[in-house]
Amino acid sequence: MAGEPTASDTPWLDKDAEPLIRIKGITKKFGEFIAVNNVDLDIYQGELFCLLGGSGCGKTTLLRMLAGFETPSSGTIVIDGADMSQVPPYERPTNMMFQSYALFPHMSVEKNVAFGLKQDKVPNDEIADRVDDILKLVELQDFKARKPQQLSGGQRQRVALARALVKKPKVLLLDEPLAALDKKLREHTQFELANIQEQVGITFVVVTHDQEEAMTLSSRIAVMDKGEFVQIGTPTEIYEFPETRFVADFIGSANIFEGEIVEDGADHVRVSTSLGEIYIDHGQSTKMGSRVWAAIRPEKIHLSKKAPTKSGPNQAAGKVDDIGYLGNSSIYKIRLDTGQIVDVTSPNQIRPKSRTHGITWEDTVYLNWEPSSAMLLNK
Ligand SMILES: Nc1ncnc2c1ncn2[C@@H]1O[C@H](COP(=O)(O)OP(=O)(O)OP(=O)(O)O)[C@@H](O)[C@H]1O
Ligand SMILES: [Mg+2]
Repeated sequence: MAGEPTASDTPWLDKDAEPLIRIKGITKKFGEFIAVNNVDLDIYQGELFCLLGGSGCGKTTLLRMLAGFETPSSGTIVIDGADMSQVPPYERPTNMMFQSYALFPHMSVEKNVAFGLKQDKVPNDEIADRVDDILKLVELQDFKARKPQQLSGGQRQRVALARALVKKPKVLLLDEPLAALDKKLREHTQFELANIQEQVGITFVVVTHDQEEAMTLSSRIAVMDKGEFVQIGTPTEIYEFPETRFVADFIGSANIFEGEIVEDGADHVRVSTSLGEIYIDHGQSTKMGSRVWAAIRPEKIHLSKKAPTKSGPNQAAGKVDDIGYLGNSSIYKIRLDTGQIVDVTSPNQIRPKSRTHGITWEDTVYLNWEPSSAMLLNK
């Protein structure tokens, strides 16, 4: 693995770096309905940037505005230093890969990929070379003569990608590029897509509603809700330091408890919640007594049948209400005395004789977690 990230890996932290795409105050209304609401975003050269959010939150609309298929109601989009407001789609330094792939069914793979270059009147020799190179990159060199219907879903997806990449756009816009693939193939293709992006060095903006996909692919993620960005950050920032309950719950899952800050130190906080007292070993910019939420991810809670030897914060007790066996891990639903259910996931490192390796329904169990595990949320 690479060592410390260099400035070029994290251009968004460099305040002198020029973004490749600058979205400023972009709003899109359809009649009275606001699909995208006054968003600002900078995307840098070489990023694989994901727009992530539930159905109808405005992802495709934003992508279509970048491509020029949709006109913003207000705001500006600058790509590579040029204002795009008067620039039609075909003159933008972008290329869009549609969810349906939109391949020509009567054309071979080779002709599908060459199509855009032919239209641009690129010389035939050069077309042949570029198509060859790109088909090698997506590992379809042996499928040149096939028609799209003679390919698998994953292969079609790669033809669509090759066709978009061969034109060497500055920015490739991909709308749910992997949605048509089954789970296994999708996981495999996520890595492929990220590798290809790294090799070609083209900036990708990917729309997805799949949080795992966003986590695997992205340099950064913008989490969207109702036409707005709720948080923008690296996958780790979004997962480990969500800023709102929405983000904590949308990315992965989280047990969320409302609480009140009872001690606010420079390097720690104590929060009183219905789960008992939660101690968090890092400071937080909130006021004493203010309403907050503490969130703990199910995989960060340890489960034991042994009662703790000392009392203190970051522990709780309950009864096993339900167990879900997932193969690699199990989900335990623990019912507290208050009636609240806490989810705990536990890896199945030892092949269990029975499904529950020791812990079973209605057992009394004890929960505890590290001081670094809980996340404090202000809204
Ligand atoms: N041409 C249109 N006219 C009216 N409303 C539209 C139009 N296009 C999109 N919308 C609305 O704008 C909202 C955002 O749509 P958009 O397609 O951007 O969602 P999305 O985030 O891509 O969702 P999905 O994950 O389902 O594809 C939706 O409520 C949609 O109904
Ligand atoms: Mg969409």
